[in-house]
Amino acid sequence: MPAVGGIPTGPGREYPGNLTPYVLVTCIVAAMGGLIFGYDIGISGGVTSMDPFLRKFFPKVYRSKHDESSSNQYCQYNSETLTMFTSSLYLAALLSSLVASTVTRKLGRKPSMLLGGLLFFAGALLNGFAQAVWMLIVGRILLGFGIGFANQSVPLYLSETAPYKYRGALNIGFQLSITVGILVANVLNYFFAKIDGGWGWRLSLGGAIVPAIILTGGSLFLPDTPNSLIERGNMEDAREKLKRIRGLENVDEEFNDLVMASELSKKVEHPWRNLLQRKYRPHIAVATLIPFFQQFTGINVIMFYAPVLFNTIGFGDDASLMSSVITGLVNVIATLVSIYGVDKWGRRFLFLEGGAQMLICQVIVAACIGAKFGIDGNPGELPKWYAIVVVLFICIYVAAFAWSWGPLGWLVPSEVFPLEIRSAAQSINVSVNMVFTFVVAQVFLNMLCHLKFGLFLFFAFFVVVMTIYIYYFLPETKNIPIEEMNQVWRSHWFWAKFMTEEFSDGNVEMLKGGQALKNV
Ligand code: BGC
Repeated sequence: MPAVGGIPTGPGREYPGNLTPYVLVTCIVAAMGGLIFGYDIGISGGVTSMDPFLRKFFPKVYRSKHDESSSNQYCQYNSETLTMFTSSLYLAALLSSLVASTVTRKLGRKPSMLLGGLLFFAGALLNGFAQAVWMLIVGRILLGFGIGFANQSVPLYLSETAPYKYRGALNIGFQLSITVGILVANVLNYFFAKIDGGWGWRLSLGGAIVPAIILTGGSLFLPDTPNSLIERGNMEDAREKLKRIRGLENVDEEFNDLVMASELSKKVEHPWRNLLQRKYRPHIAVATLIPFFQQFTGINVIMFYAPVLFNTIGFGDDASLMSSVITGLVNVIATLVSIYGVDKWGRRFLFLEGGAQMLICQVIVAACIGAKFGIDGNPGELPKWYAIVVVLFICIYVAAFAWSWGPLGWLVPSEVFPLEIRSAAQSINVSVNMVFTFVVAQVFLNMLCHLKFGLFLFFAFFVVVMTIYIYYFLPETKNIPIEEMNQVWRSHWFWAKFMTEEFSDGNVEMLKGGQALKNV
């Protein structure tokens, strides 16, 4: 029986398998999925701080930004349509991820990825050539639909194709490619904003076409996963594909386990109703609270609106875009720290350390902005050291998020759900994340206008609550094989009383290793 956070017990069973060209192409295509998601997160803030873009689509915001007589900096960007431009994508992603789970199951992972790629392509095209606000918003909605399909199918494809022992690293690899996407968006915004004639924003928005083409092309070339073929009854095809993917002639052991896992998952008749049972309370808590808290760290205020925020606190346009390149870079580097440390130091350590670090930074940033901008949002002259201090603490905050709640917000839910509720619980996790991403994107500019510097204290409050939740209610899952995860809950001081005896061990033996491939 594994102790919580105890000695590594290793996976239940290890299948042979090489890093074949198939696996490599899969990783590249999967990276494109993450890249596009990140690109969309990072691109809109920079674009909405570009004057030619504002003048064309949001003249009211443009006027308020340049209105010398209005000195309230907190409210200069407060516009419903501007917010809608950013947030519509997440609402669309939420809706389509509900449809995508059925398409992915019934038609296979490949058609879902293909659809995702095509929708991205159409959305990027519409945005790049936009002539009116509706084209921008419809474009963002198409991109959102694309994200729903890609975020559902790509990680699934990845975990079903990757050799067992690389699965964990690839999981955070997906987050890494999101952060790279954000960084690429920040860097491109910085350069495109300088283009004479002021049409650089078209390149920024249209640029998503490149990864969209790679994702579309890649999904045409890649085979569907053996798991998915088995699920749809194509046994022989599935065996052949598994041989090709693994680069081996004898794949019997893994193949048989996959078939067994598929049979077993078919027996689960009501995954959604199952979720309501008492023994799944700890899992429901994870599936809802972790994504909720992840968004209430306030990270997307920085990711979506960094240039707008930096502009608000007195930076020029160029310095604002540059500062978001810096935060984007910190985000990528700190994610690497997480990849390095997650199995060494454990999830809880990263969560707790990250929480404390974020809290300190939020309080300092609130104090800095409050001291200079006060309640009326009128800063007067801003000294240089001031800008440096604010950017520095925002960077330390982003680093804390990027090695804690960023990757762990996705990794921990994906590893704690038992098979019989895995896909349903994972859908909840993704949907809750999208809902609150939408909420934060939608209300931020308005909240900044009303809560002013207190906005940072608002998120700081949630960071305190989530850190308490982690401390008392989240057990360590480092080095615990997925199939043995229930032991962790059973020995937990609080959750143990929800765990009934019949739970978990029945199907575990025959699922060892094989079913873990179904993990998303
Ligand atoms: C979050 C995104 C966020 C990104 C920042 C992800 O884990 O889900 O909402 O923008 O991290 O790197």
